[in-house]
Amino acid sequence: MSGRIIGILKEAEGFVSGAKISGELGLTRAAVWKRIRSLREKGFIIEASSGKGYRLLSAPEFSVEELQALLKGRFGKEIIFLKKTASTNDLAMELAQNHAPEGTVVIADSQTNGRGRLGRRWSSPQGVNIYMSVILRPEIAPKDATLLTIMSAVSVAEAVKKTTGLDVTIKWPNDLIVSGRKLGGILLEMRSEPDRILFAVVGVGINVNIRSSAFPPDIRDIATSVLEETGDQAKRTTIAAEILTGMENNLNLLKQGKISLLLQMWRGLSSTLGRDVIVTTGDITIRGTAEDIDREGRLILSTADGPLKISAGDLTVLR
Ligand code: BTN
Repeated sequence: MSGRIIGILKEAEGFVSGAKISGELGLTRAAVWKRIRSLREKGFIIEASSGKGYRLLSAPEFSVEELQALLKGRFGKEIIFLKKTASTNDLAMELAQNHAPEGTVVIADSQTNGRGRLGRRWSSPQGVNIYMSVILRPEIAPKDATLLTIMSAVSVAEAVKKTTGLDVTIKWPNDLIVSGRKLGGILLEMRSEPDRILFAVVGVGINVNIRSSAFPPDIRDIATSVLEETGDQAKRTTIAAEILTGMENNLNLLKQGKISLLLQMWRGLSSTLGRDVIVTTGDITIRGTAEDIDREGRLILSTADGPLKISAGDLTVLR
């Protein structure tokens, strides 16, 4: 409900009367006032004038209320926000198991057990970055799951590009790269039966307002953030809203079978294709040239022993 108040105030040019808000939302004037007070406590600056009503002067850097006001589709109708949690993916998987609908979003301000791909840790300090997980329920076969990673990487890369102006590229399968450093990543987890995916959770981690001095020493040289790259603080709300809007649209493309279009979008954002690379999968290390990705999202490598398709692994681009 508070999200809808912010929506009404954001849409208005100037003041909106208390009567209009209470009429639109079916709330008493006292209930509207109570919500305005709690919005102010959350950092919204809302001017109140006895004759004219309310006017939004500024919104905090991150808020679920503004995020919901920016979202027009199905994604983000339900947002669970936590100051701290072990991992937003863990909670989203649990909610999905308990029938939470597609588009349910879990966001945390910090994670105590943030997880990356290949069993790695994902550094998740408080109040600076995006840690967000989205529940998807696509009707596709488990063998096509990589397409969800491709679709998510495209959505996140485009959203970050659009909201920050950064030249974001994708390193296969789903690392977000700016100036050769990692800005973010995606962790896809799912439950499936032999012939269908029951649900998937797309976990998105983006370094937004973290200073490079605050990164753990082991990633300081390989990670970056929006702040480090642009020199400016960015609004996590704006970036998250764009990601969710893009992901909903691109998932629709996937559901409509427009796979070639998604792959084309991915190719356009890729900094992997055409490069000489080394890919490690389990104990095996393969060297080759990254030629393309196929309809199942596998990387096609040309190697000394011929072409090879790889579904998962850790990739290093050779200079
Ligand atoms: C990667 O290794 O590149 C993937 C990183 C994914 C991190 C995000 S943060 C939100 C969600 N919760 C987690 O524990 N991990 C993902």
